[in-house]
Amino acid sequence: MENQRGSWGSNIGFLLAAVGSAVGLGNIWGFPFKMGKSGGFTFLLVYLFLAIFVGLIIMCAELALGRKTRKAPIAAYQAVSKKFKWLGWLAVLSPFLIMTFYSVLGGYCIYYIIINLIGIFGGMPEGMSSFVNMITSIPISIGILLAFMVICFFIVAGGVDSGIEKFNKIGMPALFVMLVIIIIRSLTLPNAVEGLKFMFVPGYAVKGGFIESAPNLVAVLGTAGGQMFFSLSLAMGAMITYGSYLGKEENLVKNSGIIVFADTLVALLAGVAVIPAAVANGINNGIPVNEISLGGPKLLFVTLQDVFHNMGALGGVFGVIFYILVLIAAISSAISLMEVLSAHFIDKAAEQGKTVSRKKVVMIVSVVITAIALLVAADGLGSNGFSPAEIFGSAKVLDWNDCWLDFFDCWSEGIMMPLGAMLMAVMIGWEIGPQLTLDEVAHGDPSEAFKKFFTFCIKFIVPVVMAFVLAGQMIGFFGGHDVLFYIVSAVILAVFWVFAALGKKEA
Ligand code: PFF
Repeated sequence: MENQRGSWGSNIGFLLAAVGSAVGLGNIWGFPFKMGKSGGFTFLLVYLFLAIFVGLIIMCAELALGRKTRKAPIAAYQAVSKKFKWLGWLAVLSPFLIMTFYSVLGGYCIYYIIINLIGIFGGMPEGMSSFVNMITSIPISIGILLAFMVICFFIVAGGVDSGIEKFNKIGMPALFVMLVIIIIRSLTLPNAVEGLKFMFVPGYAVKGGFIESAPNLVAVLGTAGGQMFFSLSLAMGAMITYGSYLGKEENLVKNSGIIVFADTLVALLAGVAVIPAAVANGINNGIPVNEISLGGPKLLFVTLQDVFHNMGALGGVFGVIFYILVLIAAISSAISLMEVLSAHFIDKAAEQGKTVSRKKVVMIVSVVITAIALLVAADGLGSNGFSPAEIFGSAKVLDWNDCWLDFFDCWSEGIMMPLGAMLMAVMIGWEIGPQLTLDEVAHGDPSEAFKKFFTFCIKFIVPVVMAFVLAGQMIGFFGGHDVLFYIVSAVILAVFWVFAALGKKEA
């Protein structure tokens, strides 16, 4: 039978693909804004702590789970756990939901490449007007979504090594070079230093007048944890799937460290590329600092387009470079999400002794994602009259039901992701035991110190931190009710902790 599963051509190819999955829209608009708003350097320290004690551990565990079982998430969880068999479904449903809006945002990048290209030869469009044109035109929104999905289809259908790996081998170095060009341009704008202060100086976001009040440390923990998980592509099956294609001789601890380091570095660099430019442009054009949009889609598509608009003759060129960079980041992440879904069906067929064509599977996956994404695209971030709130006749609550994008984001990133990661840690730490991961990691011969570190983190630190992140995400999406959400998270953790530990005794 033809091997449709595939494998990486080389360790560096795997690394670039995994870094490609991690480096995405989350790095470019999520990290720098959240860092500035949530305490600057303090946020960075919390983020780094979480990346080492939680992100690195889960990264290692996911890669090990994939490589040990050589299966996509649903089958991988079924192979190792009696009590948490169903967890794999969570790790497949969330990438599906993420793709329904990630693809729409990827489409937006294509639109901005086109308008900046046109701008080089004619007038450079201003941010707000081009954004409104795009999101309120259903044909444009759908057209660019389809274009994005077609690109991703061809890459994933090309296979693990000759599609995904090949794209990242060219895309990742290209992204890095373009990022450096944009950083140089951004930092040479007058007043760029104000943006650097916003990002790095503790409390400057409040002092400088960008926001009214700073969040407390517990809220920072929730924000940083949520950001870290999304940014590292954890708890969504992506690293399990990518790990399942990895050779036994590769060192999982070292690879995990490189992925976490590279993703964090790119997030910081992306911040230095976009925030100083956005802040400088706002100040130079007399916009009050608290009115400069520094987060979400508006940062990328309104604020930054204005930066290019105001740059004069070369604005279009920088615009094209910047939006190609963002498009590469979006594609390299989207294809990992699509691979999670495709791998499941390819493995399922192999299990039943059938051969399926990868192309056919990827086609079906692409069509189903596109079908739901059409709703998100046509909704235009809630501007076209059929947001979830309007359809269900409830009040619009920002970040949860004000548009379909937020609605799907809330379920996937807000609930399933932290819940999935918390339960995965409980499963590994208390049901099946850390030894399974350590045995798999042992091919790279980790030190005794790492084994102890891994065991302690997966048993205690990760579950507790994830309970905070789960509460933090729910507070962020639904607002208010802080104490209630902390209690809910703690109860869920306690119930599953006992459930997993009992499972261990029975085994
Ligand atoms: N890590 C990506 C980002 O930062 O934008 C998003 C993502 C990709 C999340 C793949 C999850 C995933 F499985």
